[in-house]
Amino acid sequence: MIERLADPAEARAWCAERRESGASVGFVPTMGALHIGHLSLVERAVAENDFACVSVFVNPLQFDDPSDLECYPRDFEGDARLLEGVGCAMVFTGTLEQFFPGELSADGALASARLVDPGPAAEGLEGACRSGHFGGVATIVERLFEVVEPERAYFGRKDYQQALVIADLARRRGGPRGIVCDIVRESSGLACSSRNALLTDGERERAVCLSRSLETVDAAWREGARDAALLGALLRENLERVGVEVEYAELRDPERWSAAAPLGELERAVALVAARVGGVRLIDNRVLGVGGDGRG
Ligand code: PAF
Repeated sequence: MIERLADPAEARAWCAERRESGASVGFVPTMGALHIGHLSLVERAVAENDFACVSVFVNPLQFDDPSDLECYPRDFEGDARLLEGVGCAMVFTGTLEQFFPGELSADGALASARLVDPGPAAEGLEGACRSGHFGGVATIVERLFEVVEPERAYFGRKDYQQALVIADLARRRGGPRGIVCDIVRESSGLACSSRNALLTDGERERAVCLSRSLETVDAAWREGARDAALLGALLRENLERVGVEVEYAELRDPERWSAAAPLGELERAVALVAARVGGVRLIDNRVLGVGGDGRG
């Protein structure tokens, strides 16, 4: 039976007890509305640790758009049942006040000076489109790490830039070991995301253009295309043709993050896209030339 805890202080005690008895704790931080992508992370955490635990917290610090925060799907009980089915030992949630006791102002906000610096990987793309987003992510993830003190923490590669920000954070604080797992896709190629639940049937069909545009650029790469501008233009064209609202469609060097797209001939590349389909903002990415299974 999964342990359901509604207070991070209880979660901290639960994790400490396990660690003190010599057990390893694997951790998957989430914002809930769990799908098979999350569950694949949890399955791995279960397999590689004595205990796996999951946080479910829709973190207001990382939303720059109040209506996005409002609409974000929430179903704690449904999430707990799914987690129990894959062998997760504990799931916890909390309020912003419980995560930062005594630190919120009268209007319930956390002072901006208290936000954790997300570092250079936060520059450009998601960081440029979503003001303050990665500061909010780094702040809650640091707090979640303090609560759980896991041996290993698991993240999906769909949030490519987030995984870089969190890897930097884990390095700065000396742990946990961050494990970045492959993107899980629906049979259409659409990357699994909690936001997919907000798509209408028609939007879901159009949303497939994100993964298709990445496949097209991957095919061009395999045929020898290396020019950054040309590959970026190909990516964008394939999205715009379907009529989705492109926020970015760019390449980066996967071994050296840069705020701006690199210029000229590339030796390595990851293609990253963000687009609004109807009112729903989706992201996806692919490391070019790496594998035909949606890895990226
Ligand atoms: O990827 C997410 O779901 C969130 O950004 C995270 C890492 C749980 C922090 O709120």
